[in-house]
Amino acid sequence: MDQGFTLWFTGLSGAGKSTLANLAAIELRERGHRVEILDGDEVRQNLSKGLGFSKEDRDTNIRRIGYVCQLLARNGVIAISAAISPYRSVRDEVRRVHDNRFFEVFVRCPLDVLVERDVKGLYKKAIAGEIKGFTGVSDPYEEPHNPELIIDSGAESIDESLAKLLGRLEELGHVRAKGSR
Ligand code: ADX
Repeated sequence: MDQGFTLWFTGLSGAGKSTLANLAAIELRERGHRVEILDGDEVRQNLSKGLGFSKEDRDTNIRRIGYVCQLLARNGVIAISAAISPYRSVRDEVRRVHDNRFFEVFVRCPLDVLVERDVKGLYKKAIAGEIKGFTGVSDPYEEPHNPELIIDSGAESIDESLAKLLGRLEELGHVRAKGSR
């Protein structure tokens, strides 16, 4: 289709959303696509500065990201979102405004693996009660019912996950094949 669309990653902190988003962006740019990434941690320093982690603030954060993604997607860009986006209803709301230009990827990883890895040291603090309302520990995460793709980041290597993602996008005609630029 060679048109814009939104690649929406959802999953717990540390599951690999940003890593996968960044690697996918590199590969898609190499294939001649225009790509923008809206990363959760980064968005919270500008577009969503001042928002916290209550349900209301998270929903606002996701609506903002969704809005920008939709603007980009309808102008031929592949917009990539990498935010936890824990609530199904607001993810589905964002999906609806996209008019089919929406590809949701559930980056799934068991909590014990995340706690074990604990790249940012946040799970340890959340379990100790030093961070309140931490997603997956003391705050909800609602899994998608019908994501376009599930990545099992606890079991697959990052290369496997990336290949699976790009393969699926190619199959659906959403992205150009490698070397077709
Ligand atoms: S979302 O829920 O609104 O989608 P977002 O992806 O923007 O979350 O931000 C998540 C990041 O904020 C985490 O990766 C982590 O680094 C940090 N963070 C700080 N406090 C929390 C919390 N209570 N729950 C989840 N993540 C948190």
